[in-house]
Amino acid sequence: MASDERFEALLQEHRRFAPPPDFAARAVVADPTIYDKAAADPEAFWAEEARRLDWFEPFREILRWDPPHAQWFLGGRLNAAYNCLDRHIQGPRRNKAAIIWEGEPGDSRVLTYDQLGREVGKFANVLKRLGVKKGDRVTIYLPMIPELPIAMLACARIGAVHSVVFGGFSAEALRDRINDAQASVLVTADAGWRRGNLIPLKANADAALRDAPSVRHTVVVRRVGDRAPVDWHPERDVWWHEAVAASPAHCPPEPMDSEDPLFILYTSGTTGKPKGIVHSTGGYLTGVAATTRMVFDLHEEDVYFCTADIGWVTGHSYIVYGPLANGATTVMYEGSPDWPDRGRMWAIVEKYGVNIYYTAPTAIRAQMRWGPEWPARYDLSSLRLLGTVGEPINPEAWMWYHEHIGRGRTPIVDTWWQTETGAIMISPLPGITATKPGSATRPLPGVSAAVVNERGEPVGPGEGGYLVLTRPWPSMLRTIYGDDERYRAQYWSRFPGMYLTGDGARVDEDGYFWLLGRVDDVINVSGHRIGTMEVESALVDHAAVAEAAVIGRHDELKGQAIAAFVTLKESVPASDALKAELKAHVAQKIGALARPDDIFFTAELPKTRSGKIMRRLLRDIAEGRALGDTTTLADPAVVQQLKAQYEEAEG
Ligand code: PRX
Repeated sequence: MASDERFEALLQEHRRFAPPPDFAARAVVADPTIYDKAAADPEAFWAEEARRLDWFEPFREILRWDPPHAQWFLGGRLNAAYNCLDRHIQGPRRNKAAIIWEGEPGDSRVLTYDQLGREVGKFANVLKRLGVKKGDRVTIYLPMIPELPIAMLACARIGAVHSVVFGGFSAEALRDRINDAQASVLVTADAGWRRGNLIPLKANADAALRDAPSVRHTVVVRRVGDRAPVDWHPERDVWWHEAVAASPAHCPPEPMDSEDPLFILYTSGTTGKPKGIVHSTGGYLTGVAATTRMVFDLHEEDVYFCTADIGWVTGHSYIVYGPLANGATTVMYEGSPDWPDRGRMWAIVEKYGVNIYYTAPTAIRAQMRWGPEWPARYDLSSLRLLGTVGEPINPEAWMWYHEHIGRGRTPIVDTWWQTETGAIMISPLPGITATKPGSATRPLPGVSAAVVNERGEPVGPGEGGYLVLTRPWPSMLRTIYGDDERYRAQYWSRFPGMYLTGDGARVDEDGYFWLLGRVDDVINVSGHRIGTMEVESALVDHAAVAEAAVIGRHDELKGQAIAAFVTLKESVPASDALKAELKAHVAQKIGALARPDDIFFTAELPKTRSGKIMRRLLRDIAEGRALGDTTTLADPAVVQQLKAQYEEAEG
């Protein structure tokens, strides 16, 4: 199991924080028997949550479980956009702020539920006019601007399946995702802002579309205008502002079957090809609505701020669908935490009186490095709940967050989940669960998780093993788009009847879960999930490279950093210039998020007799540990020599 040292350190963690009495007194979930009640009848528990949504047609059956395929709320018909908009607009939330948007250069915009509803209706009609029909796929490649959730909800309104591609992905990555989904429309922008620089989204889109014939139309948001002139293809491209100007706001919501797909979101797996995770309408919306309300203790008057990008699942579930299904006010921020200065996030908290703040451990560690004087300059007294997601949080970062952001007053919810789970699975309920720094605490009511050994048997308290989910849940992925076989093989074949998360964990004497990181070939860099094979494929695509092995090594700030061991083709000399070129090559193939931190040239890679690269040993080398078991290697001398070379090179 990876992370042995972390494991040992966590065994020493005994601090406990009970929910503050004033918080508990008015918590949304205040009755601890919720766990037992849900465990006694999970289907009834989830059905009750599903009934909080508005259904055009009530469901007749809660769950049909035909492993590994689950169907939830059968026979029910609903629309996700209707649940996020119309039902609020028809009631007292009509003029409540739905989205508070803060742009990077300092511009801002507030959309009430009524205004958001009109924008969504207009864009839904634009999509229809472009020929988009129920079930068609629409790829969205936008910066963090209001048009992004508007486009998603417009798709949901007419029953089209959206596939949002993070704006930091390259043209090639975008092209592959469009082709896999066979999208007919692409929504993009002229450019986006990043630390005062422009990200050329339209140019990337043009490059992607040279080889993506399924796309008939592109809708382009004018975000930066004259500063980023774009090439125009009149037969294909339309400006967003021109199209919506001529579009009526009224668009009836399409009644969708509970099991109809709501969206596809690509994520990295253990092969070179990203997986299109498919989420349903009824089950997904039930999962995100319930968890937003319970985990974030959502009250009517709250201002809620999740710092994720909507290009990742956290943004889908906890900026868009979860908060809006609950009629909440959700803040979205376009830019970076250190632009124009390192106090930016706290300035936003102060400006809008944010009550609930949800971010990633890597962002907290960056703040620790910048120093507590930044948050100290701002009035953070509105904050009453903090959350983290995306990677294991080290107890030091947890304590810093607690002291310097929560000022010792606010509970922290460390939420474990995945793109595939759709919604939070393991997390405190802040009004009733005592927290321990570094632990995501317990599976939520209605969720069943376990830690098992190689044979699939539950391990004892304190022992490490594989984290599995042992019962279907409403917001679980339904399949991998176009590849149901991979869905079966990836998640359900290792331990029959159990969902394999790919994470290692242990459970302590109190039943608390401690997440230990991925145990497969997926790495987590600043909370971004990257497949080692994707980076390897990008490297061997370069003319100079014969072979490459990529691993995640521990990094103080980012959680993990990307280290690549590269064998060059025979006639190619190694040089620093080539290292830089290879890093740039990966960034161009995938996106800057996958740029390797280190590249190490080696004549040979450690392999087993059957030719499999032993990445475990490369991790030992990169993390400066003694080498693990080398007996299965074809030539153990290779790895010894590599270790010596690495240590010499790294000084
Ligand atoms: O390894 C776990 C880690 O992030 C992975 C899921 O990544 P992704 O699908 O991109 O979704 C990220 C946001 C939900 C998991 O397999 N992870 C996520 N949250 C936590 C975590 N690891 C430890 N603690 C968490 N709270």
